[in-house]
Amino acid sequence: MTLGFVLIFFLCTNTVTVQAGNLSSTTNYSTTMATTAELTTTMVALNLVATPDYPVAAGQRVKLSCNTINPSQTITWQRYCLQIETWENVSMGNVLILTQPQESGKYRCETHNTWNVLIVSQNHTVFIVSIPTTGENVAKAALVLSVLILIAIIAGVLWLFWKRSNDDLSALNTPKKDVPAPSVVIPKVLPPKDDPDGDVYMNYTSTTQAYSDLNPANMTGDDCYSTLS
Ligand SMILES: *[C@@H]1O[C@H](CO)[C@@H](O)[C@H](O)[C@H]1NC(C)=O
Ligand SMILES: *[C@@H]1O[C@H](CO)[C@@H](O)[C@H](O)[C@H]1NC(C)=O
Ligand SMILES: *[C@@H]1O[C@H](CO)[C@@H](O)[C@H](O)[C@H]1NC(C)=O
Ligand SMILES: *[C@@H]1O[C@H](CO)[C@@H](O)[C@H](O)[C@H]1NC(C)=O
Repeated sequence: MTLGFVLIFFLCTNTVTVQAGNLSSTTNYSTTMATTAELTTTMVALNLVATPDYPVAAGQRVKLSCNTINPSQTITWQRYCLQIETWENVSMGNVLILTQPQESGKYRCETHNTWNVLIVSQNHTVFIVSIPTTGENVAKAALVLSVLILIAIIAGVLWLFWKRSNDDLSALNTPKKDVPAPSVVIPKVLPPKDDPDGDVYMNYTSTTQAYSDLNPANMTGDDCYSTLS
């Protein structure tokens, strides 16, 4: 019974101790928080703002602004170097512009306040993504190709116009070859002879005898028949 009482007492004491510990730590925490808040409002006045605040493609601008209540403060930009695990000074001034993929990294700005106390902004990580340029190259190639096709079409049309105007000019300057020059009309009708049947026989000289046959032996001259056989 006594042992049980002692045990309960011990447990209660223990609980009280723990609660006291909890209480004190909570109080201390609150005090620390209050102190930090006070420090934040009085001393930490650097606010890093990134525009835009998301990963961008290479060539797009990321503007980092270091906002301070005292504009005369000299602001130093720092980038965290992963290799040597330290902050390196990269730039000065209120604004830092980043465009290159290799400029990606963790940035912060810092300054000294009027009591020469160092004030540091929050960290900000910048992502500038290098996008593969295959699509861009294809687009460029397509553009070049279409321009070449356009040039070819224009050249063809110009050539056609040039050819046509040239043809017209030559047609105006020189006589047309395909049109025959007006020639002397040769009458196809032979002069009429006093032939009874109206027929005309070449190289037949006799007019009294009717033409029946020509005997080569009675030729009076070359291809000239005088009598009939
Ligand atoms: C506070 O006390 C509770 C028990 O009452 C315990 O579980 C908890 O871990 C304690 N917290 C701290 C921070 O000591
Ligand atoms: C806060 O913690 C310190 C020890 O770090 C202690 O001396 C002090 O009494 C605590 N304050 C409160 C209010 O518990
Ligand atoms: C960075 O610049 C600040 C302010 O100009 C200077 O106090 C600090 O020593 C520099 N740090 C390095 C690593 O150069
Ligand atoms: C900023 O980054 C550094 C380096 O990684 C780190 O040690 C520090 O705790 C960070 N500060 C904040 C406020 O996140």
